Amino acid sequence: MVSNAAAEKADVQRDMKASRTSSRGDKSSAAAARAVDVEALHRRFVAREATIGVIGLGYVGLPLVGAILGSGFAVLGFDIDAEKVAQLNAGHSYIRHIPAATIAGWRRGGRFNAIADFTRLREVDAVLICVPTPLTRHREPDLAYVVGTTEAIAPKLRPGQLIVLESTTYPGTTREVMQPILERGGLKSGVDFFLAYSPEREDPGNTQFSTTKIPKVVGGDGPDALRLVTALYDQFVSGTIPVSSPETAEAVKLTENIFRAVNIALVNELKMVYAAMGIDVWEVIKAASTKPFGFMPFYPGPGLGGHCIPIDPFYLTWKAREYDISTRFIELAGEVNTRMPHYVVERLSGALNERFGKSVKGTRILLLGIAYKKNVDDIRESPAFKLMELIEARGASVAYHDPYVPEIPMSREHKEFAGRRSVALTPAALRDCDAALICTDHDEVDYHLVAECCPLLVDTRNACANAGIAAASIVKA
Ligand SMILES: NC(=O)c1ccc[n+]([C@@H]2O[C@H](COP(=O)([O-])OP(=O)(O)OC[C@H]3O[C@@H](n4cnc5c(N)ncnc54)[C@H](O)[C@@H]3O)[C@@H](O)[C@H]2O)c1
Repeated sequence: MVSNAAAEKADVQRDMKASRTSSRGDKSSAAAARAVDVEALHRRFVAREATIGVIGLGYVGLPLVGAILGSGFAVLGFDIDAEKVAQLNAGHSYIRHIPAATIAGWRRGGRFNAIADFTRLREVDAVLICVPTPLTRHREPDLAYVVGTTEAIAPKLRPGQLIVLESTTYPGTTREVMQPILERGGLKSGVDFFLAYSPEREDPGNTQFSTTKIPKVVGGDGPDALRLVTALYDQFVSGTIPVSSPETAEAVKLTENIFRAVNIALVNELKMVYAAMGIDVWEVIKAASTKPFGFMPFYPGPGLGGHCIPIDPFYLTWKAREYDISTRFIELAGEVNTRMPHYVVERLSGALNERFGKSVKGTRILLLGIAYKKNVDDIRESPAFKLMELIEARGASVAYHDPYVPEIPMSREHKEFAGRRSVALTPAALRDCDAALICTDHDEVDYHLVAECCPLLVDTRNACANAGIAAASIVKA
């Protein structure tokens, strides 16, 4: 990898050369004088000779780095978290489903460096941004990370760079929020640099669809940006789907996640209705799925979790207010899904009462799985925390077991649970609790042992039936 000073010098020489070449033509036009060689950049992407910068090395950014490296590009990975940067450069991983051996392989290959020094942004031909887009405390879009990153790029931006936002966000972010910041230094999008949006569709832990196998939607600010972003992504994903604008691409991502949020709310509602009628919703969904057209299965659960589905719909809801449009469908889905942990605790409470004549107060409850979905270590927005809060508010004590989360880390949202450790899943621990509650159905958990030892097993994922276990102690919720 070239040094900072050498890279800056090479960049400046390249900029000057481009400027001299273009000014040989129409000298009166300022735009022409700084015009960049789009064809040369396109060729560098197609020949995989470019250096690609990825900003934000988390659940999305890190697999993206792997995909880009896999197609032969050199990658500079940027993150403000110095600890993550140090770990990657040492060949370690901080994401469980990305093995350390993979990172060590990238480092050995000599084409990957992680850095916290943003001055080196000038070395890259394209910058792909994968920073968080959470909600504020008032449940409104929090673009602080996107804005912070754009402000870090702006002073380093040089002619001929492609900037792509991948973070999930509302339509308009790329051109209304990022573009003015990037243009502050005098460079123009579509002329001097190229701006695009391509939504991330990562599904962490999904072994069937890894980053390279998921087609990407791309939208550019102008035809050159679209052509360049398509050429770049075509090198490392199974296909690109160009759309007419960044706003359309932004809307595609929100539509995909809203579709999930609404359909999950629907099956959650059906679960409650059918349970009251003595009908098992999972059996219904399984049978309905045999219809070869017009039905797509979604599954109920203890509530929404993760960085996307509980959050992204509210990016659209917020933006829609600017147009005096209310998003009642989306808000209703949010309401139904938010009620789920309460419903699960009611089921637990009812079962303790009916079976043992106990109230929740004074019982010991073992929560199984606190990650937001199976076989991953991501606990963001996990409904497990709401369950813990509700159960403890009723006077019970809650322990948890999660093979992916040995200890609950400190977070702004769940300070009170930080430092709690996963208990071992021993017969003694299982017999010692009044009830176990399956929140997340990790494959590693021995559900046969759980069903055998626990006096009461509340199952929000149909994990026992899926493992072929039927026992009187199981209550679906
Ligand atoms: N996790 C998913 O399954 C998933 C799937 C699809 C889309 N997304 C979207 O992708 C985006 C990223 O999500 P994620 O799950 O990878 O988040 P993450 O928290 O795992 O990773 C984000 C990384 O960005 C870094 N970061 C924050 N601010 C930075 C800055 N100013 N400069 C450099 N680095 C910075 C953080 O240190 C962190 O390492 C979000 O918009 C999310 O909605 C996530």
